[in-house]
Amino acid sequence: MFKNKTVIITGGASGIGLLSGRCFAKQGANVVLADVNEDALNEKVAELVAEGGRVIGIKCDVKNYEQVLAVRDQAIAEFGSIDILLSCAGGNECRILNRHEDFPDMPIEVYDWGIDVNLKGPFYFAHAVMKQMVRQQSGVIINIGSVTGEEGDKTGMAYPTAKSGIMYGLTRSLALYGAKHNIRAVCVTPGPVLTRPGMANMTTLMDRAGEPQEIVNMILFLASDKASFITGTNHVVDGGRLIVPRPWGSSK
Ligand SMILES: NC(=O)c1ccc[n+]([C@@H]2O[C@H](COP(=O)([O-])OP(=O)(O)OC[C@H]3O[C@@H](n4cnc5c(N)ncnc54)[C@H](O)[C@@H]3O)[C@@H](O)[C@H]2O)c1
Repeated sequence: MFKNKTVIITGGASGIGLLSGRCFAKQGANVVLADVNEDALNEKVAELVAEGGRVIGIKCDVKNYEQVLAVRDQAIAEFGSIDILLSCAGGNECRILNRHEDFPDMPIEVYDWGIDVNLKGPFYFAHAVMKQMVRQQSGVIINIGSVTGEEGDKTGMAYPTAKSGIMYGLTRSLALYGAKHNIRAVCVTPGPVLTRPGMANMTTLMDRAGEPQEIVNMILFLASDKASFITGTNHVVDGGRLIVPRPWGSSK
């Protein structure tokens, strides 16, 4: 389905990004995995290449615009186009940096990290690839949101702030800009997904967390020509989590 298409995937060394890369590669795409974790990246790229994929890995911190530009340039040099951008790199700053202070006591650097990775990262990448997509007069940009962007979070506050920003402001703005150039922009918003065991006990209407493949199925559909009339929209894949009544402030 994606023969001769080139996809850049941030956060491609793990979880939803990695599985997306594997699926795109199996369907004939050229895959560029970008991730800050160089060891995991090298290991996973080797696996995907051994499986027959046309895959390269580029170490990149999405917070660093120079490194983002380098990914863009290397993707074009290697494969000649950028057809799909999938911005997966992200995570809640409190979980990833292991900080548990109350909101007013949290060092601002922790929130800076959350905003920089989860909001600026997808913004930087969309900005970096847009000129190439305009040149091609085609492209698809897929951001990854989170139900936390709808719910909020009492302490890890940069994460929901950033996620709502990309689910709505960024995705819609990119769709507005891209429409006249045949460039679509969409967001996929997961509920709890089993990329780590901790998600297994989270509330959903279906009484289970999602499998990574259930998120990737939506990503693959939106990236494909089957979704040719879909742009500017947010696509929630959450097992019904957002319609389950829960105690005020519960993050479970
Ligand atoms: N797993 C869930 O339950 C869930 C729920 C809602 C939303 N999401 C979102 O889905 C996306 C993928 O989540 P996942 O569960 O697959 O996560 P994951 O932790 O398995 O993968 C995230 C990847 O991003 C990379 N990364 C982190 N910071 C980076 C940076 N500064 N630059 C480049 N790469 C960086 C990590 O090294 C890792 O490989 C994230 O944006 C996350 O917020 C996940």
